[in-house]
Amino acid sequence: MLFKVTQLRRFCIPALWLGISVLLSAPVVAQTVAERIQMCQACHGEDGNSRIANIPSLAGQPEFFLLNQLVLIREGVRPIAAMQEAVKGLNDADIQAIATHFAGLPAKASDEKTDPALVKQGAELAPGLECISCHKPDLSGQQQMPRLARQRLDYLIMALKSFRDGTRSGADPLMVGAVLGRSDAELIALAHYAASK
Ligand code: HEC
Ligand code: HEC
Repeated sequence: MLFKVTQLRRFCIPALWLGISVLLSAPVVAQTVAERIQMCQACHGEDGNSRIANIPSLAGQPEFFLLNQLVLIREGVRPIAAMQEAVKGLNDADIQAIATHFAGLPAKASDEKTDPALVKQGAELAPGLECISCHKPDLSGQQQMPRLARQRLDYLIMALKSFRDGTRSGADPLMVGAVLGRSDAELIALAHYAASK
């Protein structure tokens, strides 16, 4: 009798653990791309245009930029703590589908106010700093280079400072080189110019 109970335990305990781990991982594994997109929308806006300070809009970004950044974020090369849950377990096909979704949505300006004097100053600075040769004259981006036009102003300012200060992990070295040594005032002017396009 005693022997039988021990045998039963030996069998039951691993089976129970297996059962629990399957239960715990089930919601993540079973999530469809559509369900993931809903998670993204909570932060990046239902239509891909963010209404939250310092969270970038994804709408109308070049598909390859989104694909590239999502891989970097998933791999921890560009670690974003707030996004850890949202990218966990995504495979390359999921990432491709998510990138296609957001790239296809129209980019809309946020309700932040841009200052016309700063917009003008930024427009004068941008050609000399090669911004437009990579991000295109209309700042709509191409390939791995993001759209800057109509991006959130607060996010653009934060991003430009982080490239200059070397605090954006996984940053493109050419992008860092483009803003190295630039003053806060210059970066703010460039951000107003880009957000207003
Ligand atoms: C809890 C909020 C949150 C959720 C959920 C979230 N993100 Fe993010 N995401 C952020 C923040 C904050 C940043 C900017 C971080 C930074 O640069 O400091 C960001 C940045 C990004 C970037 C980089 C964009 C750029 O212009 O550089 C991409 C791409 C992105 N998120 C896609 C997604 C996708 C796709 C999902 C859903 C699978 C998602 N995010 C879910 C908060 C979130
Ligand atoms: C040699 C090409 C190149 C030049 C020149 C360049 N950029 Fe970039 N930029 C990139 C690439 C590539 C990325 C995306 C890679 C990354 O995030 O590290 C990027 C990212 C950015 C971002 C982040 C946007 C986002 O959504 O996360 C901003 C803002 C930006 N650039 C503004 C500028 C401005 C302003 C200038 C001119 C001062 C400029 N760039 C010049 C290539 C360039």
